Amino acid sequence: MAQTPYGTEDFDSRQFRTAMGQFCTGVTVITTVDDDDRPVGFACQSFVALSLDPPLVLFCPMKTSRSWKAIERKGKFVVNVLSNRQQDVSAAFGAPGDDKFRNITWDPSPAGLPVIRHGLTWVECDIERVTDGGDHHIVIGRVQVLGEVLQDRPLLFYRGGYLSTEHPRVTPAQAELEHFLTWTGGDTWL
Ligand SMILES: Cc1cc2nc3c(=O)[nH]c(=O)nc-3n(C[C@H](O)[C@H](O)[C@H](O)COP(=O)(O)O)c2cc1C
Repeated sequence: MAQTPYGTEDFDSRQFRTAMGQFCTGVTVITTVDDDDRPVGFACQSFVALSLDPPLVLFCPMKTSRSWKAIERKGKFVVNVLSNRQQDVSAAFGAPGDDKFRNITWDPSPAGLPVIRHGLTWVECDIERVTDGGDHHIVIGRVQVLGEVLQDRPLLFYRGGYLSTEHPRVTPAQAELEHFLTWTGGDTWL
């Protein structure tokens, strides 16, 4: 006889965080420049590739994020995908600070936004749409420029801490993934 799995409707935000922390993600730093052309950015795990045609991505900044205010004004942002050598970069951008770029080497994207050196890749985007997501915004961006890809290991975030993979590449799990957006086997462009 089937058993009912345990679940509760009576949970607090700490328990919610713990449950959601079981979902492992990569780490990005989303950057732009402010009105005075100063670089700003924040560490962001809520990044996802959304659509292949048109090429869209999505991320979720807290409504209190200072970087978000600059990104919204600029209307453009760069997503920097971090490698496992960049824990210190994640830490620098994952906490409030007036000069997070102090120890960071970066180059300007075509629109002049910060591309952090030694990341796995980067994309430059225009804001396409912003919708409400509780205490976060849901931001959809249209990819305008695709950065080069560095063969290195990703930085992972899991249960509130950092992890790295054993191998730089993994084998796709099943053939049905062929039409999935981030699948990179066969004759795709990656
Ligand atoms: C690994 C990691 C992932 C994070 N992911 C997010 C995220 O998805 N959305 C968000 O709003 N903040 C996220 N944060 C927290 C922000 O980076 C942090 O609150 C930062 O201080 C915001 O800076 P700002 O106010 O200058 O924008 C993350 C932090 C870390 C370390």
